[in-house]
Amino acid sequence: MENLEQIKSEIIAQINAVSDLKALDDVRVSAMGKKGRITEMMKNLGTLPLEEKIALGKNLNVIKNEIESALEAQKKILEEKALNEKLAQEKIDITLPIRPETQGRIHPVSKIYEEVAAIFGQMGFEIAEGPDIEDQFHNFNALNMPANHPARQMQDTFYLNSDTTKPFDMDTAYVARTQTSGIQIRTMEKQQPPIRIIAPGRTYRSDYDATHTPMFHQVEGLVIDKNITMAHLKGCLYDFVKAFFELDELPVRYRPSYFPFTEPSAEMDIGCLKTKTELKVGAGTDWLEILGCGMVHPNVLKAGGIDPNEYQGFAFGLGLDRLAMLKYGIPDLRTFFESDVRWLKHYGFTPLDISSMTGGLSNNGGLAR
Ligand code: DAH
Repeated sequence: MENLEQIKSEIIAQINAVSDLKALDDVRVSAMGKKGRITEMMKNLGTLPLEEKIALGKNLNVIKNEIESALEAQKKILEEKALNEKLAQEKIDITLPIRPETQGRIHPVSKIYEEVAAIFGQMGFEIAEGPDIEDQFHNFNALNMPANHPARQMQDTFYLNSDTTKPFDMDTAYVARTQTSGIQIRTMEKQQPPIRIIAPGRTYRSDYDATHTPMFHQVEGLVIDKNITMAHLKGCLYDFVKAFFELDELPVRYRPSYFPFTEPSAEMDIGCLKTKTELKVGAGTDWLEILGCGMVHPNVLKAGGIDPNEYQGFAFGLGLDRLAMLKYGIPDLRTFFESDVRWLKHYGFTPLDISSMTGGLSNNGGLAR
């Protein structure tokens, strides 16, 4: 009997000493499992004379019950402890910001430029650049727009008086470039075909309202090679607009137009739905002009030092700011250049969202908003 009491208190002490459920189960197995101490004693009962068997059996049953309730009680305590630990680990401080707040923002115009560069980059276009302050040869004359050409009046040019000691001469003055098209000429001067470039840049015209600012952004495109046709132009620009608007299908049409430096010239429209409050690209029965384009005029090739009998090409011009307004639903162009950090925080993009054709252009419409 004494022996039994001792075994019991040993087991109960073990039960109370464990600090996790696994250890508790080990104690249970060592006492009550198939080969446990108590189980073994139960098994041995059969070998005893009847009277001892009855007495010991009774005591064993009592002890067994006590051990079981001790196990049960300790299990409850340990389960509660485990739950509390888990809860403490999973605790979320809901007063913390949702994610670390990055401070800088990418301006929508920069973002759109990165998107355009990613698309044309994948098509094998290189980036070309030219100066903001341009001479009239590159900005106008070489583009088939000689002095007094009526097309010059389409562009409200800023002329620069660079030498104030001499009287201002309208014909030789430098200009704040009115278009990125001059980079076509600068590229041809430096490089023989095949040419495949896009040329981004700031452009300037004396104009100011909700959709015009004196400084704005264009991207020029130029492809020159042997046997380039209007079909190449159409295919290239169709691929571009689909990639840019991240749509598999997009209705487009080419409308005949006029630019001095291309012949024939066209404007590309995309299908959309215009309502008073919304403009939805890719569906509906309305058309929206998106870019100017055409086959490079032979005079332009000549001015760039390229033989038009051997080479042909196509060119196009995009308004970046307009594309940004359209893609990201920004109503007033003037706000782009007011340097208001609240505006930038609202319409800007986080610097880590890098545009790529494989990783996503706008990063799931990844507005910082
Ligand atoms: N330079 C033109 C403008 O500013 C845009 C443009 C139209 C560029 C057609 C082109 C082109 O290269 O082919 O209005």
